[in-house]
Amino acid sequence: MRLSERLLEIARLVPKGSSVADVGTDHALLPIYLIKEGIARKVIAIEVRPAPWRRAMESVAQAGLSDFIDVRLGDGFGPLKVGEVDVAIIAGLGGETIWSIMEKAPEIAGSLEALILQPMKNVHRLRKALFENSFEITEERVVLSGERYFEILVAKKGTSRSFDEEDLMIGPVLKGRRTPEVLEYIKRRLDRLDGRIKELEGRDSENARRAKESMLREMELLKVVLKKWSAFRP
Ligand SMILES: C[S@@+](CC[C@H](N)C(=O)[O-])C[C@H]1O[C@@H](n2cnc3c(N)ncnc32)[C@H](O)[C@@H]1O
Repeated sequence: MRLSERLLEIARLVPKGSSVADVGTDHALLPIYLIKEGIARKVIAIEVRPAPWRRAMESVAQAGLSDFIDVRLGDGFGPLKVGEVDVAIIAGLGGETIWSIMEKAPEIAGSLEALILQPMKNVHRLRKALFENSFEITEERVVLSGERYFEILVAKKGTSRSFDEEDLMIGPVLKGRRTPEVLEYIKRRLDRLDGRIKELEGRDSENARRAKESMLREMELLKVVLKKWSAFRP
């Protein structure tokens, strides 16, 4: 089965020869790909719901990869011991859920060479939690998969550093990466925010007012970055 561009980009970030945990594996598509392509030497695939866990086990057995992929039932890093893997992937969950998985097992999260994180929403909240807990963001990517852009972060326990709103809303790596893809992504984000603000017009509840305010601030920050980039001609 062909992997989505989102999962392929995650696979590209996995260091060759590493042992990997895939938390929230669902169908185990990514672990199967990582082993078949010779990227990972072993994968521990973790799933909290029994039905997908059973399906993942069946897919791994059908692919003949049960010696390389260990499918475990459990919550987050719960079924994992310190030192069992070098890298963890947590993809396809909300930013706050990703952080709650890391927060529940600091000894595991802190021991990994890399955490490859792909939040579906609340990326800024995930970045804030990472910064506040001395995780460094070493790499960030945006990938267009189907109709939608996704952000992928690579983090590792490091030292504490200061951060600002740009670091949270755009990202410490992305804000310095003026590639056509990142530019297009920022423009799409601006269009989407503009559309959502227009939808809120005429609604004067406290919630609507707060949402509008935070979206306007996000737009302002995105425009500042675009302006800085347009002033910089390499
Ligand atoms: C939307 S799927 C994403 C699947 C795959 N990681 C991807 O990115 O395509 C999320 C999966 O994570 C599982 N999940 C959610 N919370 C989890 C947790 N705390 N521990 C393990 N699995 C979890 C869900 O049951 C679901 O199968």
